[in-house]
Amino acid sequence: MDALIIEGPARLKGSVRVSGSKNTALPLLFASLLFDQEVRFENVPRLWDIETTLSLLQSMGTESHWDKATGQVSIFPQVREKVAPYEWVKKMRAGILALGPLVAKYGEARVSLPGGCAIGARPVNFHIDALKQMGVSVEVEGGYIHARVKSRLTGARIVFPQVTVTGTENILVVAACAEGVTTIENAAQEPEVIALGQVLLAAGAEIEGLGTATLRIKGGTLKVPEAPIVIPPDRIEAGTWIAAALVTRSELTITGCDPAVLASIIEPFRAMGAKIETRQDLNELFVEPCSVYQPIQVETQPYPGFATDMQAQMLTTMCMASGRSTIRETIFENRFMHVAELRRLGAQIETHGNLAVVDGPSFFQGAPLMATDLRASASLVLAGLCAEGSTKISRIYHLDRGYQRLDEKLIGLGARIQRISE
Ligand code: EPZ
Repeated sequence: MDALIIEGPARLKGSVRVSGSKNTALPLLFASLLFDQEVRFENVPRLWDIETTLSLLQSMGTESHWDKATGQVSIFPQVREKVAPYEWVKKMRAGILALGPLVAKYGEARVSLPGGCAIGARPVNFHIDALKQMGVSVEVEGGYIHARVKSRLTGARIVFPQVTVTGTENILVVAACAEGVTTIENAAQEPEVIALGQVLLAAGAEIEGLGTATLRIKGGTLKVPEAPIVIPPDRIEAGTWIAAALVTRSELTITGCDPAVLASIIEPFRAMGAKIETRQDLNELFVEPCSVYQPIQVETQPYPGFATDMQAQMLTTMCMASGRSTIRETIFENRFMHVAELRRLGAQIETHGNLAVVDGPSFFQGAPLMATDLRASASLVLAGLCAEGSTKISRIYHLDRGYQRLDEKLIGLGARIQRISE
């Protein structure tokens, strides 16, 4: 297993390019199952989760070609087995995104229950309940979801009790192939959902309300989009770079990003005192740190609120603020695994249920750390960059699941990082 050894404190210099969005690529790669011809993608990020997704699709019988140098992927979606096996879904719970396309295209699916992960139980009951409303019989047995269209897929009025990103994505795909009209209320508004909806529109679907909490979809026949599907930049990676600029007190230009979807991420960093210039026409941001960061209060919310996937990175940044900051995690029940690790460096953080209270500024001393989940590992890298001395982060495969060689990009900016296998 790989580990990173980071020598701090680091000063970063120059500009860094954001890679394609993992959470946009995953639903789109699974949506290729809706088509009969080759589906082409560009700007697909080089991540373990992409590797896992293509392996899972191949286990169903599809063929794919991935040029990791250019980010081009072709998928030839001939499906033999309408099954998403546990061996793959246990590695990546986003395997649940096979459920919608298989039911929509083939009327049946056997998908392993994802099971929980470090940040929470991660149930999929909202996905299942919605399918049942659309003419699908769903049994959960032996750790698998067994779904079969009884006679035909029919549109329905779906009201999600809680905003669910992949739940919205699965039902959006099914609705695009169902007879009649489906409305989804309390739908996720994340840019990743909008991107999926735009590809379905290009394939001939009729969708209204993309980017709002109410979607209206009229089902029909879909045809593979003419142009390759270009994966947009990863907004969480962009936010992670903003945090990196603040914690290392470095000026940083972040290129290849979309400032238009970053407003709720940028706002709290600006409130801390950083200057963040958005250059929409150039698809870039320019971040200028300041000498004393103000403490702030933040709460994670579904988009367009502050992203839960930025919570861990924000927590590390708050440790550098002068005073008491708080962050409330309202999406997942156990997403503070990074707190104990940050404390090992000297962070002054107390958690009370879903509230983390941070006193600063903290002076971090390097220490050995253990990554527990994707975004937590990013927060530990940020902490290592501003710690005095050497910080070793084990189980760095968590980081590689969602960031395209973050260590190499940091080295390109002047950080002293070594990747070792242990
Ligand atoms: C997506 O997960 C993202 N993953 C997550 O990113 C992200 O943290 C999350 O949305 C929230 O933004 C992908 O897009 C692949 P949810 P998802 O369904 O869809 C509860 C990362 O770091 N819920 O929006 O699985 C659930 O327990 C990952 O890239 C149910 O109770 O999250 C959670 O508390 C981590 N029943 C809340 O809703 C359900 O059927 C939101 O979950 C579904 C969800």
